[in-house]
Amino acid sequence: MTCRPAALAAWLVRVRTVLVLLAVAIITTTAILLTDQPWRTHVRPPASTKPPLRDRWHPDNRLLDKLAIIFPVNNNTDMQFYRNTWFSDYLYPVCDWAEPGCKIVCNETSTYRTLDKKTFCFSREMKKYHDKEFFIKLDDDSFVDRDYVVSLMKAYTGWKRPVYISDHTRRGDRTNPSIDGILYGNGKFYMFNYRLVKCVDVDLKYKGSRNEDSVFGAMVRSGCGEPNVLYVQEDDDYIWHKSYKNKNKYIDLSYIKNH
Ligand SMILES: *[C@@H]1O[C@H](CO)[C@@H](O)[C@H](O)[C@H]1NC(C)=O
Ligand SMILES: *[C@@H]1O[C@H](CO)[C@@H](O)[C@H](O)[C@H]1NC(C)=O
Repeated sequence: MTCRPAALAAWLVRVRTVLVLLAVAIITTTAILLTDQPWRTHVRPPASTKPPLRDRWHPDNRLLDKLAIIFPVNNNTDMQFYRNTWFSDYLYPVCDWAEPGCKIVCNETSTYRTLDKKTFCFSREMKKYHDKEFFIKLDDDSFVDRDYVVSLMKAYTGWKRPVYISDHTRRGDRTNPSIDGILYGNGKFYMFNYRLVKCVDVDLKYKGSRNEDSVFGAMVRSGCGEPNVLYVQEDDDYIWHKSYKNKNKYIDLSYIKNH
């Protein structure tokens, strides 16, 4: 068989064409694999079957984003219950030691008699919450109506004075001038603004262990001055303490009967 130059040239052209096509195929495949499959970004993810839990643009919800519910917990606190209520997004559990879900950890074992120390602990922490405008201190056997809280926030947003909303009483304490004659809010619920948080005196001194709510009232008087504070009487129709009874519903919110 003779090898003619024209046939050899044609064969070489075919081989070159095949090699070029092969190279283009390899380069294209590599490029596609390396570029993170751009055509896929046009595919919409399947729509979620779950509706959003809350509409974050609703004016009430935007207002509530400025709220922190300070919630001292102990081993008898039913966190499951509170996490399943409207509180859950705003809850700042105050714990002795670090545990899942705790927002404020005091690093000190507390008892019923040392709750005043826990009050100093969360008051110091609250001063760091510059992005909040309102605070609620709630007992773990209390519940408060959401619309009522929203209405209070609407009424006192931007208020120039420290605002302290609760059921206030006066108490004498002859051994402690810093607490004597103090006007303070019942611990089941008190709500206040950041202006009050800024001025509360977290270095208040007194002798013995005292009721944590009267101590908070004393921190307010010492740091903010009673005449400067707007004391607002709460509406107990919207605050349920120890039990809730309405129509055919009855909920016992307390754990230890005598507290
Ligand atoms: C519950 O009790 C345990 C053991 O005594 C303790 O370590 C823990 O800090 C307690 N939790 C709270 C929330 O007080
Ligand atoms: C408790 O300890 C933790 C870890 O050291 C710390 O982040 C936290 O700020 C402490 N809490 C207080 C109230 O000092």
